[in-house]
Amino acid sequence: MKILALGDIFGRPGRKLIESYAASVKKEFGADFLIANIENASAGKGVSEANAKDLLKVEAVDMYTSGNHIWDKKDVNNILQESDRIIRPANYPDPCTGKGYGIYRVGKKRIGVVNLSGNVYMNNLDNPFLTFDKIYQNIKNVCDIIIVDFHAEATSEKIAFGYYVSTRANAVYGTHTHVQTADERILDKHTGYITDIGMCGPLDGVIGVDKDIIIKNFVTQRPVKHEVAEGAVQLNGVVFEFDDETNKCISVERVRKIFG
Ligand SMILES: [Fe+2]
Ligand SMILES: [Fe+2]
Repeated sequence: MKILALGDIFGRPGRKLIESYAASVKKEFGADFLIANIENASAGKGVSEANAKDLLKVEAVDMYTSGNHIWDKKDVNNILQESDRIIRPANYPDPCTGKGYGIYRVGKKRIGVVNLSGNVYMNNLDNPFLTFDKIYQNIKNVCDIIIVDFHAEATSEKIAFGYYVSTRANAVYGTHTHVQTADERILDKHTGYITDIGMCGPLDGVIGVDKDIIIKNFVTQRPVKHEVAEGAVQLNGVVFEFDDETNKCISVERVRKIFG
């Protein structure tokens, strides 16, 4: 069993990457299941109902995780309530729309995908470590493979979380920074891990945003209006392979492609 996870889809360039290449990259890596992060799909901030519907039409992507930007577009609430193929971090307060995890069948295997947000330099949410414990109790007997998209800023929180859930989750990967890390490994000969898988969208920007706008922001310390960068694009992610008998992770391979 191979699971491909793709990082934060950023704006129109990111959506076009998914629509054009998700199927071929899934095939190239022999993946049975594909997860992508939808939190920045509309102009880099959230995802509109219309854009979410278009991305849900991409059959190669089995489901979408998200993050702190998921509610930026107001009409996303409908799709979060209707679709089981988009989830949001489980540790947001209960009144928030959407579900924090989903269970999906691939052949004879049931895959549990859990989405959590970190708390360091992020919103002040329920403790993601303890939230995982609760979800794990609910799903451990009905899932063969549990995979976590840990959407967080601080590398320390991500690494600590990986160790905390090691041997319970079968794979953990980070999103949110949009920058791929090179620390992929297998924890305790069981749990695939990488601190951040990177993003799908513009290459020559600052985590997706036009670089001149962000430089101006740093130079002047004045607010600026973000615009999605143009030009070359990057598609980043990771492929985890799991042993068919034990469901333990046996390989972690980074995916990094540049187009244009
Ligand atoms: Fe993001
Ligand atoms: Fe984020």
